[in-house]
Amino acid sequence: MLPRLETARLELRPLALEDAPQIQQLFPRQVTVDYLALRVPWPYPEDGALTFIRDHALPGMERGEQWHWTLRLKTTRLKAQPAQIIGLISLRKGDENNRGFWIATPWQRQGLMTEAADVVTDYWFDVLEFPKMRIPKAAPNLASRRISERQGMRIVGIEERDYIGGRFPTEIWEITADEWKSRRTNDRAPIA
Ligand SMILES: CC(C)(COP(=O)(O)OP(=O)(O)OC[C@H]1O[C@@H](n2cnc3c(N)ncnc32)[C@H](O)[C@@H]1OP(=O)(O)O)[C@@H](O)C(=O)NCCC(=O)NCCS
Repeated sequence: MLPRLETARLELRPLALEDAPQIQQLFPRQVTVDYLALRVPWPYPEDGALTFIRDHALPGMERGEQWHWTLRLKTTRLKAQPAQIIGLISLRKGDENNRGFWIATPWQRQGLMTEAADVVTDYWFDVLEFPKMRIPKAAPNLASRRISERQGMRIVGIEERDYIGGRFPTEIWEITADEWKSRRTNDRAPIA
């Protein structure tokens, strides 16, 4: 079973069917979707969150091929209750597209996804024990790009790809388990 994870400010709770109404409220209204892959239906259908969770995410988690967590704030200081979902972060087995994330606009630019990405990347390498992580990103998506840069990822390829917002140059970012573990600071111990 997927564990809850924690960062300094966030609780990461395994995605569940009961999260569908909150995600349906949040995702189409408060997330910039321009740089998300075309597999995300857009305009977002009325049952978009339900079908994503029920038909894709939960079966993927049961097969041991996907790992999804909702993001919630541990305290109320940042204008959200702990029960309130503010974003989502996912891991996926496969040659690339191994991690994806979004956070709603009121909680962006506060370093929150940087925190979530670190703990989830620890999980990828320490618990799931994959040898490398690869993620394609639209090059103009500066915030997402910056998270990869800060994590010590390298660009291993550049190509054009289609997104909800159009066709963009795409950078393929990569980091190996050895690179991740050797750059991890001593104050962040492995989680397993
Ligand atoms: C990408 C995303 C998850 C970043 O989340 P976030 O919590 O705002 O990110 P952080 O606050 O941790 O910031 C990460 C870095 O990006 C920078 N950044 C954040 N928003 C930015 C923006 N709009 N433009 C430029 N830089 C930005 C931050 O300053 C920070 O840089 P620093 O480490 O040098 O200070 C968020 O913008 C988002 O949900 N976007 C829409 C969905 C999406 O594009 N997902 C990724 C698909 S690959």
